[in-house]
Amino acid sequence: MVVHHGVGMIVDKWEQALSAEEYTEQDALNFSTEHELRGKVVWVTGASSGIGEELSYQLAKLGALLAISARREDELQRVKKKCLQISSLSENDILVLRLDLTDRSSHEAATNSVLKHFGKIDILVNNGGRSQRSLFVDTNLDVYNAIIELNYLGTISLTKHVLNHMIQRRKGKIVTVSSVMGIMGAPLATGYCASKHALQGFFNSLRTELTDYPEISVIQICPGPVQSQIIQNVFTENLAKSLENSGDQSHKMPTDRCARLTLVSVANDVKEAWISDHPYLAVCYLWQYAPTWAWWLMNRMGKRRIQNFKSGIDADASYSRKNNKKPVPNLLPAEGPGQHHLCAKDMHWPGTATLRVTPDLQRMEGAQTFDSHHAGDKDKAGRAIAEERRA
Ligand SMILES: NC(=O)c1ccc[n+]([C@@H]2O[C@H](COP(=O)([O-])OP(=O)(O)OC[C@H]3O[C@@H](n4cnc5c(N)ncnc54)[C@H](OP(=O)(O)O)[C@@H]3O)[C@@H](O)[C@H]2O)c1
Repeated sequence: MVVHHGVGMIVDKWEQALSAEEYTEQDALNFSTEHELRGKVVWVTGASSGIGEELSYQLAKLGALLAISARREDELQRVKKKCLQISSLSENDILVLRLDLTDRSSHEAATNSVLKHFGKIDILVNNGGRSQRSLFVDTNLDVYNAIIELNYLGTISLTKHVLNHMIQRRKGKIVTVSSVMGIMGAPLATGYCASKHALQGFFNSLRTELTDYPEISVIQICPGPVQSQIIQNVFTENLAKSLENSGDQSHKMPTDRCARLTLVSVANDVKEAWISDHPYLAVCYLWQYAPTWAWWLMNRMGKRRIQNFKSGIDADASYSRKNNKKPVPNLLPAEGPGQHHLCAKDMHWPGTATLRVTPDLQRMEGAQTFDSHHAGDKDKAGRAIAEERRA
């Protein structure tokens, strides 16, 4: 049963692609739903590093017009330069806009600057934010204040200004990079989890206030651990202290994979997408559907997380299959050509009763995998589509 218009469109595109004799790189791009982002004005916050930087590159390649924001303007200029190198965008298609999310009084003027430059904002990606590595008992309350100011209030403040414009146009997408920590609880991140849970509650509620605007989508992206600068930039016990040793981050999901699945979710108006390796994705399912087990499991996993952190390695290092002599079993079967990394909650049918990603979504993700792995190799591309269709 198809419950989402995006899936129907993908199936149509498969049919077209399957009837064609040859597949070009352009076909591969057109075949993905992300191509719908071409020409859209997308404002990405936190674009100076990590997920926001990678989103900017992928959006530029897709032909989206970009406003990129963060506090470090020199880093934004670096990102802009690379966007121009890897895409067909021109100088005026990318606006570098310095923005401090905690300086809420500046958000209206910033929104007006983007509107003056592009005339509209199609998509706001609320991505800027910082995480935490400190135990509550050791942590100054100022840190909690700062986390909420940045991750929660900064995000909803910018959303308010951009939403006014989207309401006038009666269309747009508000995308917020939340976290699996917005679904579950974990030690060393009490303030961070609280801020992401706040975002989840806020945007789930905002969506219900926008039912008169069916063309305004509210999309929450919940990544698990992803390679970025997030650990180097975490809040610690007090505002003056930074983390001494961030540890090896290579076991985490590659940034480009997270960005790609984010754009798939955005293009398909998925209300909430969990994007993660196991075991975090499986823990999300438990947290959602069997919380008693999640609490039990998280007590065990949490102890190890604290031990790891105290011994100077990445808090999450021991759960990675790469780092484990005894690999963590993939609790949910991988289907399709890509490993199962994405759960889109509004793809579940009926309601949220199923524990698996629907085949439709597997195919949707598979289409992207096809795009990235097989573009340029026509025979392989043809086979990938056919295999994907048979699955
Ligand atoms: N990486 C993960 O494992 C992971 C997992 C789940 C969710 N997330 C979420 O993903 C988002 C991006 O994080 P990331 O992993 O890409 O980390 P990152 O590499 O540290 O990037 C964070 C971005 O936020 C910006 N930022 C920080 N403070 C800001 C402020 N006061 N005003 C404006 N921008 C600010 C930073 O730019 P400036 O320093 O230049 O301002 C940077 O561009 C965050 O919301 C994070 O919570 C990350």
